[in-house]
This record gives sequence, C-alpha cells and structure tokens, in this order.
Amino acid sequence: MIAVFANKGLPAGTMTVFDGQTIIGTAEEIRGAFPSVPVPTDLEPDGYWVYWNGSDDHRMLFIAGADQPGVLYGAFAFLSLRNVFGPNFVQLNLHKHPLRSHPAFNIRWVDEWDNPDGSIERGYAGRSIFFEGGNVRDDLAPVAEYARLLASVGINGCNVNNVNAAPQLLTHESLQGLARIANTMRPWGVHLAISVAIASPQTIGGLATFDPLDPAVKAWWTAKVNEIYALIPDFAGFTVKADSEGQPGPASYGRTPADAANLLATALQPHGGVVLYRAFVYNHHADWRDPKADRARAAYDIFHPLDGKFAPNVIVQIKEGPIDFQAEEPVSPLFAGLRHTSQAMEVEITQEYTGQQRHLVYLAPMWKQVLDFDLRADAQSTPVNEILAGKSFHQPLGGMVGVAGVGRDAWLGSPLAMANLYAFGRLAWNPDLTPDEIAAEWTRQTISTDPEVVATVDKMLMQSWPAYVNYTGPLGTQTLTDITGSHYGPNIESSENNGWGQWHRDDRLGIGMDRTVATGTGYVGQYPPEVATIYESLETTPDNLLLFFHHVPYTHRLHSGKTIIQYIYDSHYEGAAQAAEFVNEWASLKGRIDDKLYDDVHARLEYQAGHAIVWRDAIVQYFLKQSGIPDDKGRAGHYPGRLEAEDAHLTGYKIIDVTPWEDASGGKAVSCQGTTSETAGKLESEGGGSLNPHIQPTESSRALAPEGPKSCSAEWTYAGPTGRFNIAVQYFDLQGGIAKFKLTINGQPAASWAADATLPSKHPNGDNSTRHTIRNVELKPGDLLRVEGTPDASDPAALDYIEVTPAP
Ligand code: GCU
Repeated sequence: MIAVFANKGLPAGTMTVFDGQTIIGTAEEIRGAFPSVPVPTDLEPDGYWVYWNGSDDHRMLFIAGADQPGVLYGAFAFLSLRNVFGPNFVQLNLHKHPLRSHPAFNIRWVDEWDNPDGSIERGYAGRSIFFEGGNVRDDLAPVAEYARLLASVGINGCNVNNVNAAPQLLTHESLQGLARIANTMRPWGVHLAISVAIASPQTIGGLATFDPLDPAVKAWWTAKVNEIYALIPDFAGFTVKADSEGQPGPASYGRTPADAANLLATALQPHGGVVLYRAFVYNHHADWRDPKADRARAAYDIFHPLDGKFAPNVIVQIKEGPIDFQAEEPVSPLFAGLRHTSQAMEVEITQEYTGQQRHLVYLAPMWKQVLDFDLRADAQSTPVNEILAGKSFHQPLGGMVGVAGVGRDAWLGSPLAMANLYAFGRLAWNPDLTPDEIAAEWTRQTISTDPEVVATVDKMLMQSWPAYVNYTGPLGTQTLTDITGSHYGPNIESSENNGWGQWHRDDRLGIGMDRTVATGTGYVGQYPPEVATIYESLETTPDNLLLFFHHVPYTHRLHSGKTIIQYIYDSHYEGAAQAAEFVNEWASLKGRIDDKLYDDVHARLEYQAGHAIVWRDAIVQYFLKQSGIPDDKGRAGHYPGRLEAEDAHLTGYKIIDVTPWEDASGGKAVSCQGTTSETAGKLESEGGGSLNPHIQPTESSRALAPEGPKSCSAEWTYAGPTGRFNIAVQYFDLQGGIAKFKLTINGQPAASWAADATLPSKHPNGDNSTRHTIRNVELKPGDLLRVEGTPDASDPAALDYIEVTPAP
C-alpha cells in the first residue's frame, strides 16, 4: 500500500527540508498513482529508487521499492543519506541523480551463536536477546529493535541459535517460541533461520539412526520441516555444522556432506527454504608430528570433490580463511574450488580472535581484502565478491553471513564495535564500497558530523586492524593466542603439539608452516595456478602471509630487508605504540562528542593500550628466548623503569610461576594466596601477609594460618632521578572476585582501584594481565613505593610489576 506523508507534519529533523509530500510504495504502486514520475521499470529484487521533483519551495519525495523489502530499504537509505549529509543534504540533486541501489547478494544473514540457556558462544555482550532458561524469552522487545537495526543495513536473514545446535530447539514447544521470534522480526524483512544438529532424528526423534539416506530419517525431516512452515511460513532455512569439532555428521554412516545437505534441502525446497552447509569441517585430532598434516587443507579436500552434487537450494558456507577467523589469514581456496555450487562467505563480527570487543578492531578492511581478492580461476578475473554474487560461476544464490553474537549489553557491548556490524551489512549490500567510506558513513550517523571528529574516528578505525595484527601475530602466524581456551590473550605454544591444527611451527631456528607443494603440505596447490605460483615461492609470497606458507629461519630477510626476528620485535613495539596513540587521538575529541560515549571509549582504549603491552612483551620475550637473537634496537628483554614484583620486599605475597611463562614479565608474578606453611609462618611473624578467606583450603594449603591479614604488599625503594613520572601497575584481574589495589608513596595514598573488569580465566595469565597507570607523580630517590593487594573470593590480587616512566 502506498504511504503518503505531508512533510510539514513530520517531526522536526526527519524530512523538514521538504514542504511537499513524501510518497513511499512499490515502484508499481507509485507508477500507478503518479504516472508522470519516471519510476524505473527494471528495479532489481530488494532494490529501490529515491527521487524528488518540484521546485525548491515545493518538493515531493518519492521512495519506490522493487518489492516490499525494497520499499523498506529505500526508506532506510533515504534516512541514512539525510544523516550522513546533514544540512548539506538539500544540495544533493535527487531529481537529476536519483538514488538507485540493489543488493549484490541475495544471502545477507547474521548468525547468532545463542544457546537455549541464554548464554552465547563467543559472545562478548551479555546474555541472549532470544533465549533464557531453555526457552524463548517472553520479552522480545530487543529482538524487534535488533531486526530494525539489521534492516537498516540491508540484512535479510537471522539465524538465532548456535551452530553447535541444541536438538531441543526442534521440539514443537520450542518451534512455537521460535515462531514468536519470526513474528517479531517479520515487519523488518528479517527472516528467521536456525542451526540444526544432523543427529536430531535420533536424539529427539526417537529413531535408531540419523543416516541421511535412510527413508525414515528423510520422512522425519520432511515432517519436521512441514511443521516449521506451518508455524513460520517465511522461514529462511537451516544452517548445518556437522562432522566438525565433535558435532555428529554424515561421516558416521560413510555419507558425504552433500548427502546430509540434500536431505534437508529436499525437505525445505517446496517451501522455498535453503540449507547453509558449513565447510568448516576438519579433524581436530590431527597428528602434529606429521609434517604433511594440515588443517588448512580440510575444507577444500572435503568439499571440492562434491562440487555439483549439492541440491540447488544448498549454499556452502565457507569461512573467509582456511583456518578460523584469525587476525590474518589467506583467502580460502575453496571459493574457487566450487564452480557448480552456490557459496556464502562466513565472517565474524563478534571479535573472537580479534580482541573480543575490548580492543578496537575495525574489521571492514580485512573483509574487503578477501572480497576483492582475485582467485584467478581459469586464469580469469574471479574476485571473491563476484563468486559470491554468483556472477563468476553462474550460481543462483550466494552472499555473506556474519557471526554477530549480539547480546543484551548494548548489542555488541562496545560502542565502536558497532562499526563492524554496520560495515558487515553495507558490504553484504555493496562489496564495492571502501572500508573508509563505510567508516565515514557510520561515524557521521552514529557519533557526529563534525569533520574533525569524523576524520579522527575514521583514522582510528582504519589503523586498528593493522595495529592489532602487529601486536598479536604478524606475517601470517595467525593470532598466537590461547587457542584451546579463551582465544584472547597471548599463549604461543597453545597452538602447537595438539590436534587442533592451528600450528605455526616455531622452534629454535625458525618459524612458519611449510604449505608448499614442493616440500610442504601441498595446501598451496589448492589455489588456481596463478595464485598458487605466487604462494609457492618464498620470493613472491607477500610478507604479511609469509609464515602461513613457508618455514624460514629467524634470520630470513623479508622483502623490506628486515629479518623475521627483527620484524617480530619491531611490529610488536609499533603495534603497542599505535594502541597507545589511539588513546591520545580519542582524547582530542573531548568536548566535541557525547561525554558518556567519550568516557566509555576512553576507558576501553586505555585498557587496550595496556593489554597491547602484555601482548608485545609476551611475544617479544618468547621469541627472544626461542631464537637467542637480540633486538637490534635493544628493547627486547630490557624494560627501563620496570620493577618486578618478585624482586620487591614482599609481605604476604608469594612468588608464583605464571603459565604460560611469556605472559608475565620474567615469567613470574606474586600472588596473595596459596601461601605455603613456611611462608605463612614467616608472614605471621612479620605481622603481614594474607589468606584469602573465601578460598577453601586445599591439600597443599591446609597449613595456612587460619586468620591471616587480609592484604599483601610489595615494596620497592625508588632509585631513579627526581622528577615527575607515570607509574604503571601491572596486575592480574581474575574472574571470580573483585580484588582491590592501593599504591602508596612514602605511606601516602597515591591511588586505589578495584580489579573489577570481566576478563577470561581464573588463573593469572595474558587473558587478564591488566595495567593501571597513575600519572604525573613526583618522585625522588629513596621514595618508598608500595602496592597493597587485597584478594577477594578467587581473585588473589596477583601482581606482575610496576613501571616508572617519565611523565610526558
Ligand atoms: C571457532 C569457535 C567455536 C565455534 C567454531 C565454529 O572454532 O571458537 O566456538 O564453534 O569456530 O565456527 O563452528
């Protein structure tokens, strides 16, 4: 139905530049009602046309959609234009140059990894907006808001549950709850999809098998799908993770992913539904001693032979890189390995391996790099975005899926992380947009149109991904994080010597994984020849991916002329310096933007700058030890102004080894907990020390004095020059308690703070190593610096070091 608004009646700031009317409807409706308006007759699906006519003092605005979704997207596009251009909007001549657009891809989905109990796998923004306590939530108001938000950037599908799917979601009762979600999202053109476990016919259907070729299994899925469509007529389809990371799959019966995908596709086909079958299938018990074993090969090895065997409503969903959302990876070769199969690219909006929303990392440049990457299939131009659009290999379906992980804490939990959700939608609509264009659009609509603010925020966004790569895992080493747990802080050896296959193969002489055809795993041979030739040779492999493809000595020289080891040192110092600079850049915006936003982001950037130092030091000290090669610039292993906790005069604190060792300065820290009986006795006699009253005694701590003092302290006598200094206190903010810290100088309180952040891990390590900086403090030789830590519950107020540096 056509909608006509008198512009004068609209709230101020909406369309006040027009004193005529705004006409919104489908192209057909508008053409019928206003025959003289030149509405195009060939608008593409979901597309729109925005146009005005009339004179300056009496304008009429027309928003025409190719179809109903197009009307919605057109309205949002108009509002966006209005916000992006602000007062300059009137100067756009939409009469001469109407705005016309349509999406590049028909699949533009977000995936949420929500569990029925309300938790979210790899989510960093609180609990689920969809589920709680095993059921769909009563209050779906946030779902309506989320659907509107998604529609405003052109997203048309939302899969609401974890790919590690809970079979219980397919029970009739759960499906009724899911129908309520679908009803809530429907007005915004966002279709509901769900992840399903391929073993469901057995786990909840009571069948003896889930063999995809078994007629009873087929009948079960058909009935289940019919039941879904009776409740949700516009249901989008299923996402499937099978034979992957412990999820059962067709391999249990010697069947292929195509067998499983087609089973579901056949049931969905009469209703117009699709199957997004994930290519993230690999053996996570690989043999790390086998130099030919390679997880990167898995997707291509498994799916390439099945090309052409998938039903037309199956889309193979491929992670952008061959491993797993690392900070930097090459493009998956499978995009060029499927010529007769529709494809979608899966990227991660939630920052699992890229700082978990605590670090500013704008991901659009990374996604754009993949979208633009020309795989040169058949020696023709075949950039990934054209493959996904179905252009290169003439496929009907395709697009982008972004794992969003939104929660009840302000969607993504961090204001600037929303640029990633926005950018995902924009790139899924138009992959030709540039990351800086998108950043500018976002900043203007979200923070301010003040040119200085826009320039600063966009500069920070654009520098953030390279900075993160620099201080985590450069040269294609992947993220060098704790890959068996949090995926957050540094933990270099966690990637090695286990079956997960995220190996980077460092030893005393060199680093990198040989994936060449000539001498390595042969992964390089999965790329079309022109690309394979580039990666096969050490000379032509770009520096940023060198260690993904080749194993080289630390003394190998990059194209820049720098050795690998020196690059590792330099990039980590540069990355940490860039993170520190973000704080200064943001500080320049004080007073120009909303105060609350300013303070919130400022605190996050301060934290990030501190954690970038944790990353820097961990990786630098690890590779210094491993290679034995000193840093040309003399920084590695030398920390001017650093006073280690283990060297302090300790009262109550006990020296501990931190695991992994590289996560603490010198591998050691002090903890106000778990004191041995010998030390406890000493502490008692010294009148200091502490026992954590909330910790149950363990075998080894039975001898603890029953009523120890509550706090511990570390003291250093300052021996540097007189002047003004910043004092950074590096401590571990563990889960499970809010420890307190206090800094005194000659007995006078200088600062006190609480370790109240929510960080991964219950052990002191790089996940929770945190920096608190006290600025501009006057010191003279002989001053007594004392840090007092008060444990709480299972947080033992562990301390790594303090660092005294001249105040700028
Ligand atoms: C990563 C992630 C898992 C997730 C998996 C997937 O490995 O850490 O939590 O289940 O990807 O994409 O299936």
